[in-house]
Amino acid sequence: MGAGSPMQSVLVAAGVKDRKVLAFRRSVEGVPGLMRSIAASGVCSAFHVLDLGRIIDLHNRWLPGVRPYYAVKCNPEPALLGALAALGTGFDCASRVEIQAVVALGVHPSRIVYANPCKPEEHLKYASQVGVNLTTYDSVEEVAKVKRCHPSCELLLRIKGPENSHAKVDLGTKYGAHADEVVPLLRAAQRVGLAVAGVSFHVGSGGSRTDVYSGAIQAARAAFDAAAALGMPPMRVLDIGGGFVAGAAFDEAARVIRGAIEQRFGDLPRVEVIGEPGRYFAETAFTLAARVIGKRTRGDLREYWIDDGVYGSLNCIRMDDYVPRPKPLTVRCHGEKTFASTVFGPTCDSLDTVVTGYQLPEMSVGEWLVFDDMGAYTTGSGTNFNGFRTSDINTILAYSI
Ligand SMILES: Cc1ncc(COP(=O)(O)O)c(C=O)c1O
Repeated sequence: MGAGSPMQSVLVAAGVKDRKVLAFRRSVEGVPGLMRSIAASGVCSAFHVLDLGRIIDLHNRWLPGVRPYYAVKCNPEPALLGALAALGTGFDCASRVEIQAVVALGVHPSRIVYANPCKPEEHLKYASQVGVNLTTYDSVEEVAKVKRCHPSCELLLRIKGPENSHAKVDLGTKYGAHADEVVPLLRAAQRVGLAVAGVSFHVGSGGSRTDVYSGAIQAARAAFDAAAALGMPPMRVLDIGGGFVAGAAFDEAARVIRGAIEQRFGDLPRVEVIGEPGRYFAETAFTLAARVIGKRTRGDLREYWIDDGVYGSLNCIRMDDYVPRPKPLTVRCHGEKTFASTVFGPTCDSLDTVVTGYQLPEMSVGEWLVFDDMGAYTTGSGTNFNGFRTSDINTILAYSI
């Protein structure tokens, strides 16, 4: 690894440098092999592995010419934030605590967009104190609040993109100006003398449709033109939000976005295009190992309890439509008999059920189940229900070579 390589920058990043980072070969032992050695070293409760090498790969494959502002809400793991900061990303923060976490890494406030269209006053005043000077809005009331609490803040008008109810989370049901609200919202900012730096949208999180980006970029251009027609200073930021999923879907989204930007913004080359990816960076970089802490046999049925569940990092099953496909960590003989199995989380609630009727080989108490793609909307939205604290689930840092 050469001096100044992305991995070297990541290894000395805030949030990473004081922690142990385990190297492994992705194509040889892979994450499961690494997890087996972690379990063999005496770790005896659920843990995540964060592969920092995967973060670098994803960063290398990100949309050229579009600066990513990582959406902290997706997974606020400090090592992930530190690694991304070291790679040069910006950050989308939605609250005072998220801004504090990013500022504490030494990130310049100009690399933060306060991307919550409706902000508590105290949080907005904090943004003002630390110099986070760009935020989103989609209501007249928010304009008045920003003017009162942070009068030097610039605005991004959050518009609603095309309908996307197929996405896991359709943010358009909550946020985004409708087409007929754009001019009144621009006028509201103009009236009180707040600068509107540009337009943002979010097409919905975890969707497979990519055509929604072109519709949203077209609507964003209409808002740019509306501002110009009102005599406002030229807008300079197009924020294409999040909604990206790593893999083939990302390549297709990138193709659509490139085409739409060329078509709709080709005549405005000075416009800076930014994005707010969350899931893209976090989802596939984290893998969970949960330990079997209990078992019951009922005829041919098997029931297991594990030490993470739907009140913990596996809340993504209910909150983010995550489809769990647990695999035993222990290597099994090919063709080993399997049983219809139920896997419960550790709390006393029967809702705390991870899978039912799921085929698994016979497992014993003390064995481990592995869950892939556990980085998006997992640890950040877990609870402390029944005294099982999501924050007690350790994240072990690794880098694949
Ligand atoms: C304003 C905003 N930006 C970015 C994101 C991240 O979205 P995703 O994880 O789909 O990339 C979200 C998710 O809710 C969001 O609300």
